Amino acid sequence: MHFETEAIRTQNERTHFQEHSTPLYLTSSYVFDDAEDMRASFSEEKERNIYSRFTNPNTSEFTEKIAKMEGAEAGFAFATGMSAVFSSLAALLNSGDHIISARSVFGSTHSLFTKFFPKWNISHTYFNVDEVDKIESLIKPETKIIFAETPTNPGVDVLDLEVLGKIAKKHNLILIIDNCFATPWLQNPIKFGAHLVIHSATKLIDGQGRVLGGVTVGNADLIREIYLFSRNTGPALSPFNAWVLSKSLETLAVRLDKHCENAEKVAEFLESEANAENVKYPFLKSHPQYEIAKKQMKKGGNIVSFEIKGGIEAGRKFIDAIKLCSRSANLGDTRSIVTHPASTTHSKLSEEDRLEAGIKPGLVRVSVGLEHVDDVIADLKQALNSI
Ligand SMILES: Cc1ncc(COP(=O)(O)O)c(C=O)c1O
Repeated sequence: MHFETEAIRTQNERTHFQEHSTPLYLTSSYVFDDAEDMRASFSEEKERNIYSRFTNPNTSEFTEKIAKMEGAEAGFAFATGMSAVFSSLAALLNSGDHIISARSVFGSTHSLFTKFFPKWNISHTYFNVDEVDKIESLIKPETKIIFAETPTNPGVDVLDLEVLGKIAKKHNLILIIDNCFATPWLQNPIKFGAHLVIHSATKLIDGQGRVLGGVTVGNADLIREIYLFSRNTGPALSPFNAWVLSKSLETLAVRLDKHCENAEKVAEFLESEANAENVKYPFLKSHPQYEIAKKQMKKGGNIVSFEIKGGIEAGRKFIDAIKLCSRSANLGDTRSIVTHPASTTHSKLSEEDRLEAGIKPGLVRVSVGLEHVDDVIADLKQALNSI
């Protein structure tokens, strides 16, 4: 079946109420027929819901949909994108292990690698987004995982999934891709050799800025390890949020197509503006990895980044002059959002780390929403003219 059909028709079995749309299962636990039923369920001889920290019908429906959309064998849903990143890595890594990661990763993922994992003797080495060819030279005997985001947040750089997949396979490493900016509609990293794919469902999967969520899908054996870790440590997605997110997936393809159409127009507009430099959008011919983006993405996504001429002060003036778009740190909402990463999402990084991750002082990230694109462009134009 086609993606759009699976997104709508993958649904929990109907109850005796014959509901058309999946109901919300707000229950923390489930009941058993007798002691034997309980024993067999806890020993996993029976596959069934026991306690909603482990599984719940709403989280299972959501996970099943994402797994189908990504071409994955299995999955587990989390309370946030970061709990998906943390729990997936923590479940698979042991003290002494080493991660190779792209330097341009979401700020909290960077904090995980640099501040928290060292406490458990887990080390990392970064490579620059344009140095994928150097990855093999970074592999150590204790390397276990290659981690990357593509497109990256907030720089909108694109990494070659095919190359990453081949390196992981050759060296027997686990390739984990954070696919948050692309969603399963625009890019399926498993096709290129990724073993696990992670999403912050908070972003385009919800698409309306309402709930937090995360999900990891991929190889069934790895997901089993992640499930066992998560079942005991408790980062599960709430049934309510799972219900919202599963509904949102029904419209993912149509929403994303419109987001991409609007974002492409915003990117073209910004390229023509004198005060905007270094405009980056994966499907702009000027994007340094345009050919790679075309190879692995269906469309360019909804995020456009650019640099304001005049650095940090001009960046702040621009943000202050915005009237229609929201000043917010989120992305992937129906409402267009402008963010100045150097003073917000990535402000905890040192200036040096920010620059190494490609975050210049004047960098602005626009998450293009679903308003009429002419209104979004008019707002950006008046703000750029006011600098
Ligand atoms: C690429 C990427 N990964 C992970 C996350 C974390 O997701 P959450 O905010 O749902 O924890 C974000 C959040 O912006 C993100 O952009």
